[in-house]
This record gives sequence, structure tokens and C-alpha cells, in this order.
Amino acid sequence: MARPRLTAEQLRSHRWFGVDNLRSFGHKSRTKQMGFDAEDYAGKPVIGIVNTWSDINPCHTHFRERAEDVKRGVYQAGGFPLELPAMSLSEPFQKPTTMLYRNMLAMETEELLRSYPIDGCVLMGGCDKTVPGLIMGAASVDVPSIFLPAGPMLKGRWKGTTLGSGSDTWKYWAQRRAGIIGEREWGEIEDGIARSPGHCMTMGTASTMTAAAEAMGLTLTGGSSVPAAFSNHPQLAVATGRRIVDLVWEDVKPSELLTREAFENAVAVVMAMGGSTNAVIHLIAMAGRAGVELPLETFDELARAVPVLANIRPSGEHLMEDFHDAGGLRGLMAELGELLHRDTTTVNGRSLGEDLDGAEIHDDDVIRRRDNPLSAEGGLAVLRGTLAPDGCVIKTTAASPHLLRHEGRAIVFDDYDDMDARIDSEDLDVDENSVLILRGAGPLGGPGMPEWGMLPIPKKLLQRGVTDMVRISDARMSGTSYGTCVLHVAPESFAGGPLALVRDGDVVELDVAERRLDLHVEPEELERRRTEWKPPEPTYTRGYGKLFGKHITQADKGCDFDFLEGSGGAPEPAIH
Ligand code: FES
Ligand code: MG
Repeated sequence: MARPRLTAEQLRSHRWFGVDNLRSFGHKSRTKQMGFDAEDYAGKPVIGIVNTWSDINPCHTHFRERAEDVKRGVYQAGGFPLELPAMSLSEPFQKPTTMLYRNMLAMETEELLRSYPIDGCVLMGGCDKTVPGLIMGAASVDVPSIFLPAGPMLKGRWKGTTLGSGSDTWKYWAQRRAGIIGEREWGEIEDGIARSPGHCMTMGTASTMTAAAEAMGLTLTGGSSVPAAFSNHPQLAVATGRRIVDLVWEDVKPSELLTREAFENAVAVVMAMGGSTNAVIHLIAMAGRAGVELPLETFDELARAVPVLANIRPSGEHLMEDFHDAGGLRGLMAELGELLHRDTTTVNGRSLGEDLDGAEIHDDDVIRRRDNPLSAEGGLAVLRGTLAPDGCVIKTTAASPHLLRHEGRAIVFDDYDDMDARIDSEDLDVDENSVLILRGAGPLGGPGMPEWGMLPIPKKLLQRGVTDMVRISDARMSGTSYGTCVLHVAPESFAGGPLALVRDGDVVELDVAERRLDLHVEPEELERRRTEWKPPEPTYTRGYGKLFGKHITQADKGCDFDFLEGSGGAPEPAIH
């Protein structure tokens, strides 16, 4: 049955434009000042295009043009588009880490949408934290929203080999440190690894989160894998612009889409993609905005049930462009069959199951069939134990099988600088069985929980051919990284978690099959160390950083600000 449609008087923007009073005179005369007349806006849904374009964001280079494409679609469908620039979180350039600013983008998105006469919005993001930031904000303000993904960049090339974002940087950097390749080759790789607009084309946070957004029903079906440089991408932008106008008339809000089932679909898709561990934090935060309880255990349960089907680096061999050509996310979701809830609502106005009807896989090496998965279980595991009472995660598909059960002596680095200063030292008392520990890298300690979780292998071990070791931290790790890295240890060391109390030589035991991470130190000894422990000084004493330090939640809670969780309680602005 067709949904009842709103009347023009029921539009949110009607309060700005539709009434006959002094304020509306101001709104209308000022709209005319921008060169529009009543024909453009009167009685039409106002569509905010929240654009995270910036000169300093290479992943969003094409977003100026794409915003115009979205506008074309909005006009076609009888809406009135207005572009609203929002903070661009540019993964390569923004320091100390974009994660420090994810919640700031979420706040900006929420308040832009609330304070202006916006009936519905198109969220333009792709580069890592822009995806959760935009969606968290839109979920809290709860106006009809479609997420338009930036799309992956094209494949990189070097001397006949294919290069992938991130993963190959780490790989060849290790080769350079070990003296296997020189400056000239390094320069050639620099030329070849990022050759078009678009986000990282490996299974990093961007490809993971854009897939999750589509699985939640927030992106036009099949949209998340369309490469930024393909002609299909502006077509997707136009179609998104057209569709948001109807979504407003149909009054389909994020709160209708973002159900417990939708989040479970997102988690299942992240697992099937071999997605980034960052998704755990972002999905928990997004669920918090939608009022959905999404505990760490849901990730572990779905990881055990859902096989990895996407054969994409770093867990697999191919890249997002290949994934798109092989059938894209529709193909993968169709193959997941009953592992997804098929009756969830999507922005397409149909159920997810209807959206997937007729989806095909064209290359079942790139998108594996369930009887031939890349890995029978999903890509990550949630661990708990005396070293991580509130949990931590490990990306099992990026880890070495022989290290998934391991006991070794800790080598502890108090912070990044300490690690940087000592890791390659000849005097470091380390061998391949040691467990490298980095603390001071969590949400408060980093601050902002930087992606330092793939600690480098000490040079002297690299030269002996050691390529992986157990590494543990309260940091995050880029989705394009790999290795046996235990991440997101909660509570973090800065907050006084057991990680703060580990000392060189302590025995640490990792047992992924048992989902355990334990510190073998007597409780009395730990208590004694705790009495000696002093909380570190906060990095920021003013400004946004201070706000962050006061309100950020721990990794197992999604690192949102405590006062931003949920969606109720923020009134529509008065128009006086
Ligand atoms: Fe933007 Fe990787 S740098 S997605
Ligand atoms: Mg990344």
C-alpha cells in the first residue's frame, strides 16, 4: 500500500516560508536575494545537501561537481536544494587523528539540519569518519536522509602490480626499512597508489562504513561500491537527489530505518566484507543515536555466524573496483540470504529483500559463494579478560593463525613517542615471542584514539624475517592494516584500566578461540601497582579538546559524547 504523503503545510520548511508574517517576509526576500523566486521554492521540500568537500580532502575531490548532480536530481523531482558545507574529516591530513573530530562533524550536521529550514537531506561523505559523523548527526535530528557515498578510487598500479591504499603503503614501507626497495621505487609507488578521486579502495574504514550504511538502508541500493570516477557515480548522485524529495513527501525518517534489525544487517555485512575494526566503534555510536542497544557481543555472535565473502585486501586479494564489477554489495547481500533481515525498510521505499531481488554475482572469486568463503567465520573477535575487562577486538582475518593462541612477555611502551624512540633500538630486549604493548593511545590518552594499533615490528626482527608479532593497545587500527593486533582495550590506560599497570616482563596470554586476553600478574601485585599509579595530565586544557576529554565515552560504548547519545529532547527552533 502506498504511504500517505505529507501536504505542503506539513513540511518543516513551511514554518520558514509558508506562513504570512514578518519573519517569513525576511526568509522569502532573502531567498530572492540569492537569485531564486517562488517558482523555485514555494511549497517544495527543501533539501539540505550536507557536503564534506574540502580542498584538503583527496577522497572528496569530486564532491563539488557531485553536489551539482544531486541538485539536478532534486530539481527534477520538484524539490529545492541548498548546499550546506560541513567539516571535512580528511584522513591523511587531519591531526592528531580524524577520530578526535568525528563527534564534532556529528554535532555540526545535527545543528545545521535543525537550525535551518531543512525538510530532508543528502549526506555526502566517504572518507572514514565522515560516514559515521554525518549519519550520527542526521539520526539525532531525525529528518529524512539519504547517504551518498563518495565511492572508492580506482586501483593503483606500480610496475605491473596492483597497489591498494594503506595496505601496500605499510607493506612497501617495511620493505624500505629492511633495505629491500630504495628511494626510486618508493617514489614510483607514491606516483601510482592514489590515481583518482574517491576513498581508499581497500577494505578500510571507508569501504566498510559505506557498505554498512547501504546495509542499514540509508543509501540507494548498490550505490556504495560505485567507483568515484565511473560515470555511474554522477548518475547515482542525481538519482539520490530525485529520491530524497519523495522520501520527504513519504516522511520516511532515519528512526524508521535504523532499527535493531538494520544494525544487525550492518554488522553482518561488515563481517562478510572482512571490514575494518573501526566499524565496531562507529556502529555502536550510530546505534546509540538511534536508541538501539548494540553491545560488543553482537559483533562476536555475528562474526561466528557470518563468513567473509568479499575477497578484498587486506584480508583478501582484490580491490573495491573489482568488487563493484563482480556484483557489488547487492550481490554480496543476496548471497548472505537468511543471514540478513530482509524485511527492513530502505530509502528506496522497498524492503531490503525486495531491493536484492535479481541481484547476481558475476565473479565468484571476488565475491565468494557461501560454500567457498574466504574465511568460514567473520573477520573479528571480541575478547575479554583481566587485561581488558570491558572488552577489546582483534581482526582475525588480518592476524597470523599461529599467533591466535600465544603467551609471551610484555614489552611496554608508555606512549607513541616512547615507542618511536625505542622500537628500533639494538638494546631493546625483544624476540618474536614478545608481546608489544602500547598504551596512552585510547580515546582520552591519544587523545582521540589514533590508528597506532599496528605497532611496527622492531627493525632487528624484521631483518631476521619476522613479519608478525602479538601487539596490544588501547588504540584503533586502520582497516587497511594487518597483523596480530589486539585493539580498543577498554578501559584504556589513561582511564586507569589494567593496561596502565602492565610492566616489562609480565606474562600476557592471548587466546582468540576462548575469546580471552589475560595478564598473568597476581591481583595483590596489581593492586599494589594501582596505588602507585597516577592519572596522566589531560592534553587539552581549553577548547574543543577539553570538551572532548570531559565527555568522550570508552571504546566499548562507541566513543560518542555522553550528552549526544539518543535523538530525543532537542526542540525544533523557535522562529521569532
Ligand atoms: Fe580517505 Fe582512506 S584516506 S578514505
Ligand atoms: Mg583509514
